Amino acid sequence: MTKLLKTRLAKEKPTGHDLVLVGCLEREAPETGGLPTPVAAAARRAAGRGGWSGKRGQTSTVQVGGKSPTTVVLRGLGRRARLDRRALKRWLGEATRVAAADGFRRPLLALPALQLTAGFSGALFLFRELALSGYRFDGFLKKPPGGRLRDIRVVAPPGDLAPYQDGWRAAGKVAEAIGFARDLANTPPNVATPEWMAEQARGLAAERGMEIEVLGTEELEKRGMGGILAVGGGSANPPRLVRLEWGSGDRSVSFVGKGVTFDTGGISIKPGANMDEMKFDKSGACAVLGIAQGAADLELPFRFRAYLPLAENMPDGRAYRPSDIVRCYNGKTVEVLNTDAEGRMILADALAWAAEEKPDDLVDFATLTGACVIALGQHGAGLFSHHDDLAADLLAAAGEANEYLWRLPLWPEFGEEMKGLHGDLQNIGVRWGGANSAAAFLSNFVRGARRWAHLDIAGPAYVGRGNKRAFGATGYGVGLTLAWLMTGAGRS
Ligand code: BES
Ligand code: MN
Ligand code: ZN
Repeated sequence: MTKLLKTRLAKEKPTGHDLVLVGCLEREAPETGGLPTPVAAAARRAAGRGGWSGKRGQTSTVQVGGKSPTTVVLRGLGRRARLDRRALKRWLGEATRVAAADGFRRPLLALPALQLTAGFSGALFLFRELALSGYRFDGFLKKPPGGRLRDIRVVAPPGDLAPYQDGWRAAGKVAEAIGFARDLANTPPNVATPEWMAEQARGLAAERGMEIEVLGTEELEKRGMGGILAVGGGSANPPRLVRLEWGSGDRSVSFVGKGVTFDTGGISIKPGANMDEMKFDKSGACAVLGIAQGAADLELPFRFRAYLPLAENMPDGRAYRPSDIVRCYNGKTVEVLNTDAEGRMILADALAWAAEEKPDDLVDFATLTGACVIALGQHGAGLFSHHDDLAADLLAAAGEANEYLWRLPLWPEFGEEMKGLHGDLQNIGVRWGGANSAAAFLSNFVRGARRWAHLDIAGPAYVGRGNKRAFGATGYGVGLTLAWLMTGAGRS
């Protein structure tokens, strides 16, 4: 299944490595305390060479002979004061890529003592990013390209090993959850139909002992879930609504994820350019399945529910059309003015069901609007919530998880725009502030939940084809949500 770089913690003075990669801060001596004596001496020799300063990306290489020869590579981390999570993540990616390209098989990584990588949360960050640096989606290639590392050992910093081991262990589960979300979102829409997504949820539920319910067309009709039925009506791949439940505890947390397996726009069809990217329009649902796997594997002490509305938005003789009036699960009617504003139509039913079950917290993830990408760029998601305390916790967790998240307003004027003429609501507002009006639309379906937050992940859910190396789903949202839940569980 998911392909990640396997990480391990090295024991004292580890031997048998063909490569020892030593991260070295600019204008500081290499820290070699945990390394075997000949390797440490070699690292000092490499640092003593003329021209070595340790600036970012600079390397200095020395061979150590003997029975099993070792290559020692010093790699500059730049200045301590300039080294943040993003810079270190990039450094790890480059370092492991070069090591793989050079054909090394048993690499060892030694880093200087850094605030960034200290304790539980530092280990969580370091090992999560290392593991994900090996992520590939190559299951559809006849012959996957070689030249990747399988595993890497890391020298543990001196001091209290217990929190470090805990962080390492948690990182493995978080990285697997993110990898799982990426695999699902990367799967093409001729395979990843609504029923296929439901099948993946069934697989997860069976493995993790979760309760699962999958509603098909008939059940959706019986329950009056007109939004999902309308959007899914134009596709030969019928819609589904998945509900998962697991865990126990006093606090209940529910998640909803937009699962449009492909968004053509429907009758309000999209232009052809980059339409292929709309396979990633299921990324919200994929993130929620990743969160479910991670929360279960980390044994987080809450009562969880997850809802995945799944539909394919296609133009067809049975497709819904502009001016249709659709009744949603909570009884509110929506006048459809644009069939490309389909995400909110399927979220309406799923949110209303989730809210009806009265969770403490309800959080939804959706690749909802191009407007959010215009506002924030592709690097981060928009956060909408009426609840300052929940918003603050999610923003803090995003920082912890190295994901960008920015709060945007839910002013009442946006809600006014979404009021309908012949229906209670209409599915589009005015041209401006499209991410905000979409969020305001959703707020009509969350009564019953104590707190609610909406994350518009249209920008950061995937990297486009312009960046060949990074192209594909990111699993955005899984890391920040698990960080939020771990803090709530007293672990961080
Ligand atoms: N899936 C799109 C939003 C999207 C855009 C996701 C870019 C990822 C990248 C969504 O269903 C959509 O089409 N939204 C419309 C809404 C409009 C019709 C009000 C949009 O953003 O143009
Ligand atoms: Mn759309
Ligand atoms: Zn969409």
